[in-house]
Amino acid sequence: MSDILITDDGPVRTIRINRPDKKNALTLPMYDAMSDAIGHCHIDKSIRSLIIAGAPDVFCAGNDIGDFMAMAESGALGQPIVRFLHVLARNEVPVVAAVNGNAVGVGCTMLMHCDQVILGSNARLSTPFVGLGLVPEAASSLLAPRLMGPARAFALLVMGQALSAAEAKDAGLANAVVDPAETEAAALAAARKIAALPVQAVLASRRLIRGPVEEIIGRIDDEAEAFKLRLQSPEARAAFAAFLARKK
Ligand code: COA
Repeated sequence: MSDILITDDGPVRTIRINRPDKKNALTLPMYDAMSDAIGHCHIDKSIRSLIIAGAPDVFCAGNDIGDFMAMAESGALGQPIVRFLHVLARNEVPVVAAVNGNAVGVGCTMLMHCDQVILGSNARLSTPFVGLGLVPEAASSLLAPRLMGPARAFALLVMGQALSAAEAKDAGLANAVVDPAETEAAALAAARKIAALPVQAVLASRRLIRGPVEEIIGRIDDEAEAFKLRLQSPEARAAFAAFLARKK
């Protein structure tokens, strides 16, 4: 079975991260599959809202750390990662996230690009970038301070302090906290509600709310440059090696 599952239900497309044995860590082909699924949607065509979902007990453990190690050795940041972040930032179809369990790294920062975020009460959001010798990505260095204020953004992005579901909602990162068994139903209800609204009014309103996309793209690119350099640092390599050796 594919690691990314795409299902269309009327005007709602669900993109499901489906690699539960590795806690839904994202590999380069998975980024490409998600980019294709998002990039092929156009708000004035048949799909009018997107859901990004994970497994019942984990949303996404972030980038695959084995892939990070390979990138550290090659000296290149995987092009599918940057492509995915650009597609997500440029996307004009409203996105609803359905999050149960851990949302780590890009699993957390992608939520900052979503229009509605529904958390199961077991959700836990964290970005251990700096502890891994890395820097924030996905324009989170721009979006997190806007959403949460700089102090809370620093605690999340730099100090690696995880947020419970209730804390994430309180910080403005999510709309609702529900029983984990209800997360997907709540996300679907939101996605259907959005899909039923006048499409061009949604498009125009969303553009106004989000502001200039080029600013976000510029920050994604600046972060990617810094991230690429940090990937190759001795401290990042040591952190990846420690994770990969954990169970040997
Ligand atoms: N990359 C690669 N493999 C990962 C992974 C990742 N980001 N996250 C989890 N896995 C793998 C583990 O290596 C393990 O594989 P194995 O069974 O072959 O040994 C499997 O998924 C289960 O992980 P485990 O750590 O046992 O699950 P857990 O429920 O105890 O913990 C997490 C879940 C998400 C808290 C933990 O796996 C974790 O911290 N992962 C790394 C997150 C991270 O740092 N991501 C990068 C962010 S920039």
